Amino acid sequence: MAHIIQLPKIEDKRGNLSFLEGDNHVPYTIERCYWIYDVPGGEHRGGHAFKKQQEVIIALSGSFDVIVDDGVQKQQFQLNRSYYGLYIPQGMWRQIENFSTNALALILSSTPFDESDYIRNYNEFLTYKK
Ligand code: TYD
Repeated sequence: MAHIIQLPKIEDKRGNLSFLEGDNHVPYTIERCYWIYDVPGGEHRGGHAFKKQQEVIIALSGSFDVIVDDGVQKQQFQLNRSYYGLYIPQGMWRQIENFSTNALALILSSTPFDESDYIRNYNEFLTYKK
């Protein structure tokens, strides 16, 4: 199941600090990270599933919604704090939308980039899940 991971938050009058470690706060070894930014209003990103890749998505800045779909049920998560990570296991269709101005989405992935791990067609995803 996709779920929110609460990350450490060290509060300090000089400013707050959060962190995470692979195989600790995140239940896999981090092999890659990428980030999505400068998203024009009304655009969405994602809209695909991964066969193997697990990921954690963090709103480092601003806010956006992540819709996670296991082929039967959809869950919607609003991310708007940099100390929450959304864990998404493999085999889920996911889309990111409703980006605020200056939203910055960090994605921590369990695999290097591999186009053959993507399912980019929703009907193909439903067939894959059966
Ligand atoms: P794409 O998967 O279409 O973005 P989104 O997740 O928003 O649907 O990725 C856009 C392009 O970037 C696509 O040509 C693949 C490339 N890409 C890489 O080369 N390496 C990466 O780690 C990622 C995430 C994407």
